[in-house]
Amino acid sequence: MSTTTIGIIMNGVSGRMGYRQHLLRSILAIREQGGVELSDGRRVQPEPMLVGRDEEKLQALATRHGLEHWTTHLDEALADPRWQIYADFLVTKARVPAITKAISAGKAIYTEKPTAESFDDALQLARLATAAGVKNGVVHDKLYLPGLRKLRRLIDSGFFGRILSVRGEFGYWVFEGDWQPAQRPSWNYRAEDGGGIIVDMFPHWNYVLENLFGRVRSVYAHATTEIPERVDEHGKRYTATADDAAYAIFELDGGVTAQLNSAWTTRVNRDELVEFQVDGTNGSAVVGLFGCKIQPRDATPKPVWNPDVPDTIDYASTWVDVPDNDAFENGFKVQWEEFIRHVVEDGPNPYDFLAGARGVLLAERGLQSSREGRRIDLPVVSV
Ligand SMILES: NC(=O)c1ccc[n+]([C@@H]2O[C@H](COP(=O)([O-])OP(=O)(O)OC[C@H]3O[C@@H](n4cnc5c(N)ncnc54)[C@H](O)[C@@H]3O)[C@@H](O)[C@H]2O)c1
Repeated sequence: MSTTTIGIIMNGVSGRMGYRQHLLRSILAIREQGGVELSDGRRVQPEPMLVGRDEEKLQALATRHGLEHWTTHLDEALADPRWQIYADFLVTKARVPAITKAISAGKAIYTEKPTAESFDDALQLARLATAAGVKNGVVHDKLYLPGLRKLRRLIDSGFFGRILSVRGEFGYWVFEGDWQPAQRPSWNYRAEDGGGIIVDMFPHWNYVLENLFGRVRSVYAHATTEIPERVDEHGKRYTATADDAAYAIFELDGGVTAQLNSAWTTRVNRDELVEFQVDGTNGSAVVGLFGCKIQPRDATPKPVWNPDVPDTIDYASTWVDVPDNDAFENGFKVQWEEFIRHVVEDGPNPYDFLAGARGVLLAERGLQSSREGRRIDLPVVSV
């Protein structure tokens, strides 16, 4: 079977996500396996064009991985028909102008979330891409996590009966940067640079909720900046102007209530950095990035509240692990393969710029809810 090549501009490839998840774990892994297999057995091999602002970094990356193409001139790459896909892993703030150019250049576009800093801009990108007829996709990586895929399986099997509620905890302690370097970039903590945990996490929560449980109908959020001052990559103190913790309640179409806490200011006392508990009439599940355990109705213990007597039930032992029953690959890579199939042979791609815009809308309305101290309804959006 023949192999063709697809050229991909990878902008922001030296960043945290650009390098680790998109280049290393996705595109280079796909190249190593001999490309993406199409429905007729042919294969497509991605050829990356590394783009960024720092020549030295790009050259070093190219040399390290034996890659031929890199440039600091995005416009030249966009003008070159060899590159069919434009992929964007820039800081959020820089995304809209770059993607707008890529739409004008007629490229298919794949991007990190959030697609923009404001809903208006995100919707405008969806409209521009639709009008230009360019294919477009947005990272929905959490849906591809083994834990969430097992949760999908449980939902599809009818395990839960009627789903009542979802409770999620996401977070860990991000060091302030003084006596230990912070493990996230400092722009994440400056609102003026596109930072903030709501802007970062609510786009994820939106696609997780709408794809597994129902469209988000309303949000009530309380956002705070727990750590007001941090130290940046150069050892300089700065004022943290963005929210680093957000406590939120979402009402979903179909009647499910979701409560999700997101914090870079909490110490982990769970099995994983994100965990969701789903309670249904016939059973409950607790899922993380990898794990998934269940407790069916028939095996539910019967606790009785009595503060005078120590509880004899070992609750942890009343849950059953759900087996993988499948090989789960890196989610970024799997979604990249789907997007390449979408571009080459029109394979399905439900996660487009409009889905991205809904995520930005949830973040925007979440921040509004926090500012105004009230629940905010979300409209159904279309291009
Ligand atoms: N899907 C996920 O789970 C996930 C996780 C973290 C971050 N993200 C998203 O990925 C994107 C990148 O985040 P990151 O953590 O990799 O950040 P990062 O700071 O590590 O990388 C950002 C990249 O953008 C480039 N850049 C910075 N300012 C620029 C400017 N003004 N013009 C052009 N390029 C500029 C940097 O050189 C770097 O290559 C963000 O939009 C973020 O929201 C997604």
